[in-house]
Amino acid sequence: MGDASKPVTQPGTKGLFIKTYGCQMNVYDSERMRDVLKPLGYAPVDTPEAADLVVLNTCHIREKATEKVFSELGRLKDMKAESGGRLRIAVAGCVAQAEGEEILRRQPAVDLVVGPQSYHRLPEMIARMARKTGDVLETDFAAEEKFDALPKTRELDGPSAFLSVQEGCDKFCTFCVVPYTRGAEYSRGVDAIVAEARELARKGAKEIVLLGQNVNAWHGAAPAQDSAGGEWGLGQLIRHVAKIGGIERIRYTTSHPRDMADDLIEAHRDVEKLAPFLHLPVQSGSDRILKAMNRQHTAADYLRIIERARLARPDIALASDFIVGFPGESDKDFEDTLALIKEAGFAQAYSFKYSPRPGTPASEMSLQVGEAVKDERLARLQALIRDQGMVFNKAAVGKRVEVLFSRDGKLDRQALGYSPYMQPVHVADGAHLMGRFAEIEIVGATSQSLTGRLVEAAVRAEVSA
Ligand code: SAH
Ligand code: SF4
Ligand code: F3S
Repeated sequence: MGDASKPVTQPGTKGLFIKTYGCQMNVYDSERMRDVLKPLGYAPVDTPEAADLVVLNTCHIREKATEKVFSELGRLKDMKAESGGRLRIAVAGCVAQAEGEEILRRQPAVDLVVGPQSYHRLPEMIARMARKTGDVLETDFAAEEKFDALPKTRELDGPSAFLSVQEGCDKFCTFCVVPYTRGAEYSRGVDAIVAEARELARKGAKEIVLLGQNVNAWHGAAPAQDSAGGEWGLGQLIRHVAKIGGIERIRYTTSHPRDMADDLIEAHRDVEKLAPFLHLPVQSGSDRILKAMNRQHTAADYLRIIERARLARPDIALASDFIVGFPGESDKDFEDTLALIKEAGFAQAYSFKYSPRPGTPASEMSLQVGEAVKDERLARLQALIRDQGMVFNKAAVGKRVEVLFSRDGKLDRQALGYSPYMQPVHVADGAHLMGRFAEIEIVGATSQSLTGRLVEAAVRAEVSA
């Protein structure tokens, strides 16, 4: 990260600072907004103070996420005043989509509001803002138009690159805002996805993470050169992307249990480049709660899916998401969740206290669960997940794993990378490994990460490769 004293912008360029909240799809969108704004002369700067345009790319998933946006806007308003009006403020992402009008009303310092399917229109919006004419709020659902309009070039932030292939959601889980903020399910075409993956490989990406709110709902017509034709699912798309030279590892996230097709599970058996990792949110282990959540599967369905995944790829690491304290969740329901976790065995998981969201059916259900109960359940669930993470990570000690190094560690010259199983791996004195794969011997484990050391022979192999 830079410091404020270095030259902030080149002459003629304008400083751009994008702050990203929420999921990986928002990270992807932030990168694409940067690409959209580049031809207008905007170049990234390291601090909001140095920027001419600050974009908050927001998340609406839980109340806390939304609150953060309004407090951040308060700070930016002061910064804008100090800049003599030079600084412009844009709000993008899922809060922009859901509460665009409200944002403009509550915080007049905001110059423009753009939803997640409309940010390809930023250049026109900025022109209108400068001329003080026309609308500064764009929240249409225009996924197809957006992907067609985005620049064909991509800039990389490291060796691992996100690529959105699917957007939106038609599942309407009763707790969730995503169907309202991201719109209907939309799958990008194979050719566009492959062209973007090739561009990323050309720029030096070694890993591609295929993204979607329900990425395994992706489907598309087979490309013309495929003699078998027909409709492809995500498994076939992965097989196809795996053929692109330079791409050495493929991941995908996040999946829904209902869309876990055989072909995708088989890809875990067949495609060497596909990482042995499956993030499959289940939310609850109670059939009663799953029904009230409108997840449209049972706990047993979920366990069967992961059994199939393990048959296809015995070493696969499993991750999930959980919500505790969904309306009506009894002690028994919660015990069912703990039982599912024990039976499944997770390498990692994200867990959240249920947060009532405006406009969702669950927020109007009676029997909302109290905060204290939610806190207690969350702590118990997280303790269990920590134990499982510890078991999973400890099993790696003494083994060698292929790590892709993508970030600086917290300590000087420490490098941070990810194992095929999505475990963070820290290596001391590893600054030279940045951006590369290297074979690492694991020497230590916590419930959340590994430490390792470089295997000398593997370094030589890497260097001569
Ligand atoms: N599409 C993914 C999840 C997207 S949201 C899926 O279907 O699984 C990411 C996670 O946020 C969810 O898996 C859920 O665990 C959590 N989440 C969503 N809405 C929430 C709410 N109202 N309160 C608490 N957690 C929520
Ligand atoms: Fe939200 Fe459910 Fe859609 Fe996931 S599947 S994005 S949790 S509505
Ligand atoms: Fe948040 Fe929107 Fe992602 S609500 S989790 S940024 S899809």
